[in-house]
Amino acid sequence: MATNPIKVVVIVGSTRAGRLAPGIARWFTGQIGQRADVVTDIVDLVDTPMPGSLDDNDPVVVALRPRLAAADAFVLIAPEYNRSIPGPLKTLIDCYNKEWEAKPIGFVSYGLSMAGGVRAVEHLRQIFAEFHSFGMKDIVTFPRILDHFDSDGNFTPDLDGCNAAAKLMIDQLTWWAYALRDAKAVRPY
Ligand SMILES: Cc1cc2nc3c(=O)[nH]c(=O)nc-3n(C[C@H](O)[C@H](O)[C@H](O)COP(=O)(O)O)c2cc1C
Repeated sequence: MATNPIKVVVIVGSTRAGRLAPGIARWFTGQIGQRADVVTDIVDLVDTPMPGSLDDNDPVVVALRPRLAAADAFVLIAPEYNRSIPGPLKTLIDCYNKEWEAKPIGFVSYGLSMAGGVRAVEHLRQIFAEFHSFGMKDIVTFPRILDHFDSDGNFTPDLDGCNAAAKLMIDQLTWWAYALRDAKAVRPY
């Protein structure tokens, strides 16, 4: 383990009954978990239901705040819903502000169509511009997501390509996370 590794909060952005997200999240956390320069904390929206009322004092919002605040970077695992992101993921984002501020964000997206969730990611880039946080150029996408699951429901992606895409994104994320953490230590944002 590197000294003072960066902290990456990985957010699992679907709460749908029968969701495919856990298989994708398991694969991705396996990839990022191999890194000596990163420690991860997994926030699954199923376990952290955000209040639709955006109540700052809601116990779930309060409990999650320090975990998000501690992050040097985020990775969002986001399916595409109606050319955008799932409502619960937007509610999570809306429940916080400073916790996202000036931090790099990586994306893992997927969808049923050939778009692979890219339209959800492009919306996320716009949303996070509000917090002066910004998305990594390279993203991990899974078009036609059902093609990546076998008949037993196991996630079986083309590992060479996917692992390389994850590495590229995580490399970018760690570079920015270290750079911004160092800069903020000298000159708080
Ligand atoms: C409400 C809804 C809207 C969707 N819209 C899109 C879409 O615009 N583009 C797409 O590629 N897939 C779309 N899908 C398919 C989902 O991306 C796909 O079912 C994926 O597995 C959802 O992630 P989850 O299973 O982890 O919830 C939609 C699914 C739902 C439930």
